[in-house]
Amino acid sequence: MSKSDELMAAARAARDKAYAPYSKFAVGAAVLDEQGRIHAGCNVENAAYPQGWCAEASAITAMVMAGGRRIMAVAVCAVAPQPVTPCGGCRQKLREFAADDCPVWVADLDGPRATHTLGALLPHSFGPEHLT
Ligand code: THU
Repeated sequence: MSKSDELMAAARAARDKAYAPYSKFAVGAAVLDEQGRIHAGCNVENAAYPQGWCAEASAITAMVMAGGRRIMAVAVCAVAPQPVTPCGGCRQKLREFAADDCPVWVADLDGPRATHTLGALLPHSFGPEHLT
């Protein structure tokens, strides 16, 4: 299995774990770190709705906890009429650890739906280098 297939499989498996009783919109995400490791996460909602968080945020947290510091590729899995790309807040969260050319693969249960780069999803972005 290629790394992109593995990453998408991890996002899909993470989607099955989503805690989304309010929206019923299950999302899984996976990130590939600089050591070739895959870290996955799902969305976790909350009765106090704004306190829920996205699958991408969970995957980033898993990566950081495992010592990963760079995101080389991202996969997102959700089921919707249009391919589900990371929300605006998650694009910025990914930006902290990923370069503009980082691929973002978007899939549903039938497989890949679209490929973007983070730079295309979040152009002219603000990042850590602005603070140095
Ligand atoms: N959601 C994600 O987990 N990732 C995205 O990129 C889009 C939205 C979640 C948040 C919320 O739990 C549900 O999907 C509906 O917005």
